[in-house]
Amino acid sequence: MIYSEKVMDHFMNPRNVGAIDDASGVGTVGNAKCGDIMKVYLKINEGVIEDAKFKTFGCGAAIATSSMATELVKGKTIEEALKITNKAVMEALDGLPPVKVHCSCLAEEAVHAALWDYAEKNGIVIEGLEKPATDIGEHDHHHDIEEE
Ligand code: FES
Repeated sequence: MIYSEKVMDHFMNPRNVGAIDDASGVGTVGNAKCGDIMKVYLKINEGVIEDAKFKTFGCGAAIATSSMATELVKGKTIEEALKITNKAVMEALDGLPPVKVHCSCLAEEAVHAALWDYAEKNGIVIEGLEKPATDIGEHDHHHDIEEE
C-alpha cells in the first residue's frame, strides 16, 4: 500500500468539508497540470482561526491534504498557521508518495490564499505572507520538494 492509513482515513472521511458562509477569508488555488482545484474558507476572530473548511475538486491526496491542513490550522493564530507548511501537512499524514507532494503544496497555498484574502479585506499586512500564486504548477517555489 503506497498510502498511509492516515491518508486513507482523511480521504475516505475528510474533515471540514464544505463552505463557511461568513468566512473572513477565502482562497482558491489550482494546478493546471493535474487540473485539481482547492478552495479554503477561514473564519478568523481576533487573530485566531476559529474555523476552517474546504472544497476540493481533485485527487485523493488533495482531499486528504485539505482535510489535514484545515484540521491543523483550526484553533491556531495566523502566525502559527503560516508555519504549517506542506511538509508539516505531509508529516501529519505519515507521508505521501513523491508524485503526490504537489497535492500538499496545493493545501498550503490554499490556506495562504485565504489568509491573503482576509488581509486584503481588512487592509492589514500579515508578516511573512507572500501573495500566493493561483496556479501552483507554474512556479514550484516550494523548496521542501527537493528534500523529499
Ligand atoms: Fe494534482 Fe493531486 S494530482 S493535486
